[in-house]
Amino acid sequence: MIDLDKQSGLPIILDGEIIKPKEGFELPAPAFRKLEDFSKVLKEGSELTGPEIAYSMFRGVVKDNDKDLFAKNNLRYDITVVLSGAIGDEFIKTVGHYHSIKGGTEVYYPEIYEVIYGCANYLFQKVEGGKVLDVKIIEAKEGDKVIIPPGYGHVTINPDAETLVMANITESNFKSVYEGFEKLNGACFYELGTGEWVNNENYENVFEPILIKAENAEDVFGVGNDIPLYTDFINDPEKYDFLANPEKYLEKFEGIYS
Ligand SMILES: [Fe+2]
Repeated sequence: MIDLDKQSGLPIILDGEIIKPKEGFELPAPAFRKLEDFSKVLKEGSELTGPEIAYSMFRGVVKDNDKDLFAKNNLRYDITVVLSGAIGDEFIKTVGHYHSIKGGTEVYYPEIYEVIYGCANYLFQKVEGGKVLDVKIIEAKEGDKVIIPPGYGHVTINPDAETLVMANITESNFKSVYEGFEKLNGACFYELGTGEWVNNENYENVFEPILIKAENAEDVFGVGNDIPLYTDFINDPEKYDFLANPEKYLEKFEGIYS
């Protein structure tokens, strides 16, 4: 059992391949992504083989005292636990989704991630029709925070031998849109279990996979990597206004990975 208090800012432990609350704390019931949910997002010809449950999502994790603060800011904190290993030819990944547009604006909701335990590769892509306009792959380790800018669909890959525990904060009522990834059999790259990146030929154009270390991204929102995401939000919720009101921060988003 691995104590995740310090890394997460929450009284939780990693017990094998699942997280559990410590006494006096409660986790919401998780939703599971099962092997069958990957049928439309794997590399063509890949077999649907792997663990029965690939990852577990705990949505709306919160301490009782902090409920009002999250609600007031229209934000939600989630934890996802992604198993190590492979599905078919690829490392285990999330199925991928785009975000909905904020009502009354033309801006898609962004998101912030934090690696609590293990390692993650965050692939995010901007696509028009079947054409890739931009793609980034961010390598993140424990403590790193990664911002998904508005308009990018994203997939998280666990390239490590350890279980990945990650947190995210998003606007509390946004919708995940899965269609874009399902139509094209996943993201524009697949990361194979060998660590090799291959192009998804269902996209019209070919890109080189360029990997960026999360620590080298510009910290334009001042989120740092020395304090857990949860704790940092509680200390300074104003800092995370860009998640609920992204239309006010468009120029700042431009600066993160440029
Ligand atoms: Fe997302």
